[in-house]
Formats: sequence, C-alpha cells, structure tokens
Amino acid sequence: MFKIENHFQLSKQHESIIIGLFDKPEKFGGDLAQLDESFSGQLTELVKSGDLSAKFKNINKLHTLGKIGAKRIYFVGLGKEKDLTFEKLRDAFGKLFKQMKAAKIEEAAILLGSFLSEKIDSLDAAHALSEAFTLATYQFEGYKQKSNEPEKTVNSFTIYTDSTDKEEILAALEVGQAFGNGVNSARTLVNIPGNLLTATDIANYASSIAAQYGFEAEILEKEEIQKLGMGAFLAVNQGSSEPPKMIVLKYQGKEQWNDVIGLVGKGITFDTGGYSIKTKTGIVGMKTDMGGAAAVLGAMQIIGELKPEQNVVAVIPSTDNMISGSAFKPDDVITSMSGKTIEVLNTDAEGRLVLADAVTYAKHHGAEYLVDVATLTGGVITALGLYTTGAMTNNERLYEQVLEASMEASEPIWQLPLFERDKERVRSSKIADLNNSPGREGHAIVAGAFIGEFAENTPWVHLDIAGTATSAKDYDLGPAGATGVMTRTLALFVEQFEPIEK
Ligand code: BES
Ligand code: MN
Ligand code: ZN
Repeated sequence: MFKIENHFQLSKQHESIIIGLFDKPEKFGGDLAQLDESFSGQLTELVKSGDLSAKFKNINKLHTLGKIGAKRIYFVGLGKEKDLTFEKLRDAFGKLFKQMKAAKIEEAAILLGSFLSEKIDSLDAAHALSEAFTLATYQFEGYKQKSNEPEKTVNSFTIYTDSTDKEEILAALEVGQAFGNGVNSARTLVNIPGNLLTATDIANYASSIAAQYGFEAEILEKEEIQKLGMGAFLAVNQGSSEPPKMIVLKYQGKEQWNDVIGLVGKGITFDTGGYSIKTKTGIVGMKTDMGGAAAVLGAMQIIGELKPEQNVVAVIPSTDNMISGSAFKPDDVITSMSGKTIEVLNTDAEGRLVLADAVTYAKHHGAEYLVDVATLTGGVITALGLYTTGAMTNNERLYEQVLEASMEASEPIWQLPLFERDKERVRSSKIADLNNSPGREGHAIVAGAFIGEFAENTPWVHLDIAGTATSAKDYDLGPAGATGVMTRTLALFVEQFEPIEK
C-alpha cells in the first residue's frame, strides 16, 4: 500500500500526484517552482486569477496534459501555515480522498514536504494521511443482490519525502491505519442490522479479536450471569429468545495487573423499548444501540495493534430489549449484582440497567478507573445536538484526560453536571434503592447519575453517544451511517493514560 521514496522528479509516472498549497504571498517557491516552470508559469497565473486556491480544504484537480509524468495533480488547500493543525490536516486529507474515491483513482503519489509546517512534521503528516485515508474511504458493503463490490479507490501510495528515516514514516503510516481500521470495525458492527448481529455474534467477534491480539477473553453465559446475580442485566434480556452475553476482554500491557482501566460499552443489539415501547418512527435505527460496545471493541483492536503499556479490561453487556410474555415490566423491582435494588419505571431506560451490572463487574475484574460509552438517551440529543457527545464524571482529573484524547481525535465531548439533587432523583423510589427513570427533565443527566451509583467511588467518566454514533450525512472523514465515534478517543485515552494520585 505505502512506498516511501526520497527523490521526486517531475518525469515520474503517476496516475495522480497530491500537493499541499499554503496560503502565502510568494506562491510556488522551492520544489514547486520547478513544477510551475514545467507549465511555463501558468500555475502562478492560476493562483493569481483565483482558479487555483489555497483556501483551507479547497481541493483543485488539474490535468497535466502530458507536461509532467503524473496525469493529474490534486492541489490541497491548507490555508495559512500558522493556522494548520494536525486535526485540520486530517480533515483536509479526508475531503481529498473522498474526491479521489469518487473519481476512482487507484494510484497516487504525494509530496509530503508540501504539507509540513512549524507544527506539523513528516511523521504527523504521514499519520494524518493514513488515518484520513482509512476513515474517509470506508464503505459498508450492505446486502444488495446486485453488484455491491467496494468502489475502487487508491490502493498504492508513493510518498516522496526528504526525511531519511523511511522506517519511522512507515511506522507513522501504520499507526494512522490502525486508528482508522479500529473505527471502521466499529462502524461495521453498528451498521449491521439486529437480526444479523445478536449478542452471540458480538461475543464471537470479541473472541476473534482476543485470539488475534492475545487478549484474555471471558464470555459469560446466561447461567453464569444468573449465578453472579446480575439481575439488572438479566431483566432486560428476560423477554428475548436470544441469550445474553457478558463479554470481557483483558489486555495486560504492564507487568502487574494494577492501575486497570475499565472500558464499558452498552451492547443492546436492538432496543424496542420493551413494554414502554418506542413509537413506530422512534424504533427505526435502534440496531445502533450497541454503538458503545462497538467503540470499546474498536478501541481494543487499536490497543491490540499498538500495545501501549497499560492494563485494560473491556466489559460489554449484550442483549436485545424485546417484548414477550416473559419480558420485564414497569413496576418490576430487580436486584443488581451490587445488591442495590431498582424499581423499573420505564423498560426503555434499559441501557443504564445493563451498564449497572457491567460497571460492577468491571470493578470485580480490578478496574480502578472506568469509562462507559453508551447510546444512552434521546435527552443528550436535545441537550447537545448531533455533533457533541455528552459526558459526566465523578472525577475531574480523569475527565481531563478523556477530554484531551477527545480533542486529539476531533470527537468533541461536553460535560453535563452531576449535582446532589439529580442523584437524589435517582434514589427517590419508595420501595427500592433506586429507580431507573425519574422523569424527562434532564434525562441525559439522571441516566448518567444512575450509572454513577454503581461506579461509586471509582473515578469514572460517562460518555453518552446517542446523538453522535450515527450521522445522517456524509462528512470529511466518513460516509453517512455509523461514525464509530469514541473509538479513537478511547484508544488515545488509554495510550496516554496517567494514573491519578489518590
Ligand atoms: N437507546 C435509547 C436512546 C437512543 C435514542 C439512542 C435515540 C439513539 C438514538 C435508550 O435506551 C432510550 O430508549 N432512552 C430513553 C430513556 C427514557 C425512557 C428515560 C430516551 O432517551 O428516550
Ligand atoms: Mn431504550
Ligand atoms: Zn437503548
């Protein structure tokens, strides 16, 4: 896929060559001056007339008509040099590769040097390039009978660079690819419909990545889940003919099993709402209710590739939420693994129930820090819209680490408050310790507060991705459908994690 070369010559034959353009007064200095000469100064003219623009994310395709070896040049507008960041460069590459895919270009060369600035070195640029390429060209195959082959796109890159360390650049390219591939796996899991992705299927998938990366895997079957007393998780599964699975993956990157990070992902393969049934429009799309599980598994894949010096336990409670003669009902009182009893007021508030036992179980496996990810509430969409993941925490220092990772991943998160009076609403049942649905006011907050009851004193961050797990529209780094959101944030968080002093 990637080839690194040191000397670019204008005579080199390529389908297309990619060049970055900074917005600066004297255009086509250095290497690009030669290129301009090949076109008898016409490039300078195009810039002057505004036909060739260095505006950020402006992509200009130019046919070379045999004047140089490459058939086409893709100029990528990078804006002002001082304003370019790693994140922005990744977006610009994303937009470029989507266009190249649409044009069915299969071979490309890139002048890496044209993308470098004071803030961005060759390794950053290589990482941004491969991550953006992997993300932006993702395609879910789907199930159409008629030819649904993946569309053609670049499958061979030549990277021209002045840097003498080819190995380092290759490694940076591989890191970007690992991040992209983890996200794409998560997207595919989310895009697969509920009839084709049951809890058993997710468990099998988790086992397969465990085998691939040497993780320890533990898949709890219904009997074991019963023995452990996970009454909250079981209640949600009660109406289903599909068996539940509590999926645990362990990655040990340190000598001792200490400072363990628990990643917990909601794995509801389809959410009907149960007896608190969803509307006929509200139910469509509920195959995506395992987006948290997908993000955790995608992150574990990246962790398996990059092998950071950290300890991670991933816990995924998986089931669908169905209706039948045996389903759980509003008014039921159930007992969670922690011993806390819960009055069920709404069977559609099922995510917090399965997460309650999963959080407890993560602690049993030694998790000393917790991050849960869940398509938890429509309320978070009301609060923050479709582009921002809602976050809550009981530990600001842990939150800062997650926030830092999310900014690097360009997966924005925003903190919602967790005050005593909302905690009290979760504890307001007359007949049980907790209730699962204290009313619609601030319901993203009370959902998070409910999970916090099970995290207890363990530092914990909650991420509600109900609005961000899918996108109705195409965007620079991916197509409409599942986004794989939080996969990269979780992986970066784990990679950069520093234990908090107690
Ligand atoms: N899975 C849903 C949340 C959801 C909504 C995800 C929209 C993706 C898109 C969750 O289980 C749910 O039903 N939440 C209810 C909670 C309510 C009953 C307190 C909600 O948000 O309406
Ligand atoms: Mn629900
Ligand atoms: Zn749900």
